[in-house]
Amino acid sequence: MRKILITGGAGFIGSHVVRLFVNKYPDYQIVNLDKLTYAGNLANLKDIENKPNYRFIKGDIVDSDFIMALFEQEQFDGVIHLAAESHVDRSISNPTEFVFTNVIGTVNLLNAAKHIWKDEPEGKRFYHISTDEVYGTLGETGLFTEETAYDPHSPYSASKASSDHFVRAYHDTFGLPAVVSNCSNNYGSYQFPEKLIPLFINNIRNNKPLPVYGKGENVRDWLWVEDHARAIDVIFHKGKNGETYNIGGHNEWKNIDLIRLMCQILDRKLGREAGTSEKLITYVKDRAGHDLRYAIDSSKLQRELGWVPSLQFAEGLEKTIDWYLENEEWLANVTSGEYQKYYEEQYVNR
Ligand code: NAD
Ligand code: TYD
Repeated sequence: MRKILITGGAGFIGSHVVRLFVNKYPDYQIVNLDKLTYAGNLANLKDIENKPNYRFIKGDIVDSDFIMALFEQEQFDGVIHLAAESHVDRSISNPTEFVFTNVIGTVNLLNAAKHIWKDEPEGKRFYHISTDEVYGTLGETGLFTEETAYDPHSPYSASKASSDHFVRAYHDTFGLPAVVSNCSNNYGSYQFPEKLIPLFINNIRNNKPLPVYGKGENVRDWLWVEDHARAIDVIFHKGKNGETYNIGGHNEWKNIDLIRLMCQILDRKLGREAGTSEKLITYVKDRAGHDLRYAIDSSKLQRELGWVPSLQFAEGLEKTIDWYLENEEWLANVTSGEYQKYYEEQYVNR
């Protein structure tokens, strides 16, 4: 029986990883540690919250004493670290929060893992989940590989780059059994509606303006979140310590093309006349330091560990739009802070 800590498991990607591991590995004990910031929502895990191999702990990775005590008490065999401040726009308005959670929080986890595994590192693993944004921006051509030099531009990507370096430094200096992956933009269910795809689905449905940054010419490489979770499963179990793996969908979209496609799909699904939703497109001031293009070469992961994305984008986007249309209550709750009440009802007053 293995005991695995997943941090940030109440967030968008984390909740998919927790669900996959709880369902696929009944012999593992899965502990989800999350601070439940605005982005963390226990309603994301309702379907598995009563499973015997799952436990939730509310806590802050920035609190070093708490983290050390937790590791000493629980003696985890593995860590899958997803907890982070994750939104570029928020990192522009409040960079310091990103240093605390993404950098110091990660170092606290590394210190605790190093401490409890010092006598027996064999069979243990610290897996740090990161982003392709650490590589900076591409021009019209080329792909990010694992050898691309780091060149972050936003406070978010700078904080993630820093945390990646710390993970590698702990591997190289202290022999910590650690692995890193860098993934492209994810889409799918349970994403907080501040990121492009869920925000725009929500705004189209509510006939609100669609704020396109700059000219909408920036390019992102979109991967279905459940394919990211499957990649995390493969890398956690089969990846090599000290290695980095890039994860991506080979699925590049210019923002404006993707937005037009979402408008078309939603016109159809909402019974609107073709062209209605596109009228909501509003060009606004560009994001400061806005990276032009991200695109991932994931051939190392495909070649060495046999992972391939399972879902085509056309199908994934339809599924995702359907999910947000069918889960109006979830959307209303996360945007109103209702989920804080959910937490109290579930755990505090029990
Ligand atoms: P998210 O914002 O949806 O979730 C982050 C989770 O971390 C939330 O549940 C939040 O409550 C928790 N958290 C934040 N600060 C914490 C703290 N101090 N202590 C404990 N928990 C805390 O983020 P996401 O989109 O699911 O991203 C998860 C990870 O994957 C991040 O590390 C992010 O950098 C990385 N990533 C995201 C994407 C993407 O497209 N979303 C792509 C590549 C990599
Ligand atoms: P986002 O979902 O914030 O992901 P990231 O910045 O981490 O790639 O944004 C995706 C793209 O969409 C990015 O180029 C910025 C753009 N964007 C808009 O044009 N308008 C918006 O309101 C948002 C949130 C993003």
